[in-house]
Amino acid sequence: MKEQRYIFLEDLPGMSKQLADRLRELGYTTVESVATATLAELVAAGFEEKHASEVISAARESIEITWVTARELADVKTSIGRITTGSARLDMLLGGGVETQAITEFFGEFGTGKSQICHQLAVNVQLPVRRGGLDGAALYIDSENTFRPERIVSMARHLGLDPDEAMDRIIYSEAYTSDHQMLLIEKADKIIKEKGVKLIIVDSLTAHFRSEYLGRQMLAERQQKLNKHMHRIVRLARAFNAAAVATNQVMSKPDDIFSTSAVYPIGGHVVGHTSHNRVLLRKVSGKRVRIARLISSPYLPEGEAVFQITENGVEDVDERDR
Ligand code: GTP
Ligand code: MG
Repeated sequence: MKEQRYIFLEDLPGMSKQLADRLRELGYTTVESVATATLAELVAAGFEEKHASEVISAARESIEITWVTARELADVKTSIGRITTGSARLDMLLGGGVETQAITEFFGEFGTGKSQICHQLAVNVQLPVRRGGLDGAALYIDSENTFRPERIVSMARHLGLDPDEAMDRIIYSEAYTSDHQMLLIEKADKIIKEKGVKLIIVDSLTAHFRSEYLGRQMLAERQQKLNKHMHRIVRLARAFNAAAVATNQVMSKPDDIFSTSAVYPIGGHVVGHTSHNRVLLRKVSGKRVRIARLISSPYLPEGEAVFQITENGVEDVDERDR
């Protein structure tokens, strides 16, 4: 299989931001779509003829492998790695931990442990495979300024990892707006490769989108952007055999008499369809115990798992504590 693939328009040879933007305006949003463009179309879009033909062939070469044998596909599937959450029960619910080549979305109300799980996974991904890690680094995109290095230190210590090394292997960026957040993902491939990132975290995936796109009339645009953003995240996860973890707040809809759960993910259906595994978190009142419910997954059965958040991080519940 081919090693290097162009993921974004900007990766194509000689592609400036302006040209890439122009292509997107014209509807060529992916490398695949450029591969099927004609010379005349790109010249009309403002490319020099020679450059246009170079870009098209690069795009075509990049997507050369469209057909794989079932056996090759099986090889790709068996290369799926898993990261332990720290709780054996939660891992079991997820089919052995958070998987690579997909998005796992944790959603729930405030304080249900979404960010704590992100911190824990950013440490756990660094563990050797025999301990449930992928011996890799984590990319941490933080949109709510809730990342805490000192929490990484205590989690790393508990696992017997060197705290400084653990912090060195978490590559952090704060996302200031939804556009900035999208840009961070668009530009992430280089750093993912350089640092050996095996886990991409976006905490929170939806907060900026929710606060920036208000009202019914902006809903369609918001969903479209969110959809695009999530597709990019999935593509990165697939291209680098990395796990992607996103968090999503839920809002209560107490007036919805038809609802049994009364919580809805902010991103609505878009987020639901693109992400592969969706896990609803809820608190058990007054305790550190949390309940995770797998809501949808391409192949895992629905179910629930109990875990807790302690000084050490995410752990199984000791039966005596319950
Ligand atoms: P929002 O981002 O507000 O939607 O919430 P969240 O789901 O991200 O919640 P978060 O992961 O921040 O969980 C917060 C909870 O984790 C706290 O209420 C504590 O119960 C627990 N927690 C966080 N830090 C610590 C810690 O250092 N020690 C212990 N024992 N628990 C902690
Ligand atoms: Mg949080």
